[in-house]
Amino acid sequence: MTTHILAVDQGTSSTKAVLLDAAGQVVARASAPLAQSHPGPGLVEQDAPALLDSVRTAVAGCLADVDPRSVAGVALSTQRESVVLWDARTGTPLAPVVSWQDRRGGSRAARIERDGMGEEVRRRTGLPLDPMFSALKMAALLDEHDPRRVRGRAGQLRLGTVEAFLLDTFTGTPVTEIGNASRTQLLDLGTGGWDEELLALFDVPRAALGEVVASDGAFGEIRGLAPLPDGTPVLAVLGDSHAALFAHAGWRQGTVKATYGTGSSIMTVAGSAEPANGMCTTIAWSMGQATFAHEANIRSTGRTVTWLADLLKTSPEQILTRAADADAGDVTLVPAFGGIGAPWWDAGAVPVLAGFDLSTGPEQLARAALESVAHQVDDVLTQLPGVRRIVADGGLSRSDTLMQLQADLSGIEVARTLDHELSAVGAARMAGLRLGLWTIGELEKRTADALHVCAPIWDEERRRAAVTRWRRCVEAARSLGT
Ligand code: G3P
Repeated sequence: MTTHILAVDQGTSSTKAVLLDAAGQVVARASAPLAQSHPGPGLVEQDAPALLDSVRTAVAGCLADVDPRSVAGVALSTQRESVVLWDARTGTPLAPVVSWQDRRGGSRAARIERDGMGEEVRRRTGLPLDPMFSALKMAALLDEHDPRRVRGRAGQLRLGTVEAFLLDTFTGTPVTEIGNASRTQLLDLGTGGWDEELLALFDVPRAALGEVVASDGAFGEIRGLAPLPDGTPVLAVLGDSHAALFAHAGWRQGTVKATYGTGSSIMTVAGSAEPANGMCTTIAWSMGQATFAHEANIRSTGRTVTWLADLLKTSPEQILTRAADADAGDVTLVPAFGGIGAPWWDAGAVPVLAGFDLSTGPEQLARAALESVAHQVDDVLTQLPGVRRIVADGGLSRSDTLMQLQADLSGIEVARTLDHELSAVGAARMAGLRLGLWTIGELEKRTADALHVCAPIWDEERRRAAVTRWRRCVEAARSLGT
């Protein structure tokens, strides 16, 4: 019987499942959408049972025409930073998933900063003190559901990132993967373990968290995820952005990848946990030994396109089509929804739409939305000296217009991967290494063969004018905010 790897990518807007054969080719795929809700200003939630159902649906769809006994192992990549609270004994979710986009931890962050602890948090975790990271969300969830931390300390509650929730549900193993754990702001990058002082600072009981394990660690075996046979091992688990970097064979220093998703992540492996260029430091993965990465997170890229599509009562695809043929003129959109992330990390910045007049229509807005994606990525790239090329992936990277715009604005080559579902593929590639299906050298060759390159066309004057105008609008977004 052919050997397969089943990879599941649980993302913000959907769960995707892909099946790879022993040659690394994707032979089946399925996906299931997942909704988000916005119950109040700054709040972004997802339904935890619906999230589990989306995994079940995607897995069943992907295996519909395959003998499930051919699956030698499961690989998992997940949205990061989002937090689930569930009952440790029954596994029942006790609250909606608090999304990585949710801003509810803002007041506690301000308090920690006022107490002079912000710098120490940054030093230990590699991350800025921002409500995007899990610790502040965990604290907020506990404030609501276990204000005195009695149940948390007694081990009756579980708090975790999405992969921890999926693993506990589908294997019964109460663990969390180290790369995902490094995004909680509770992990000491130096030791790779939970930091007792940070746990105390954020008021998160250790007993509520899973044990931290390597990305190819002991995740247990599947049970109750039909039609997969019980006993199928989980071989690799990665944060989605980390998995994309792995799929780009980005284990050598110098590869810079940009994932164009709901938000965007620019990431490159680092020789050590030392901070650099204002980027976050994160554990990309650990296979025996931790691989560090520098990462810049941009909050709203694909989300800007879906926001505009909703506003104009059309589809994101239509926005991209309109943007392809349009000239934004002077229209500039700074989508600082809930503040602005890297490289500014200004939680108080507000969205700005500038340069419009009575002739402005949906076309110009669509183009401005797309340009805002490239500009935000460019803002990060300008902090990284010597980048001549990036590798790109994610839903929006399929837009030829965006890829060319990125090349032109940043004056660099943009090499888009031809592989789809890159996060799932990255996790599957790590699982396949573990099974001995392929080697690092084979993965490097396969990756290099699957790129489409856009070279910059604009001259320096045009590039500079566009960047200058954008930067002035970013300044406006920041100075108009709090
Ligand atoms: O950091 C958040 C990120 O992991 C979410 O990724 O692809 O679900 O938007 P995505």
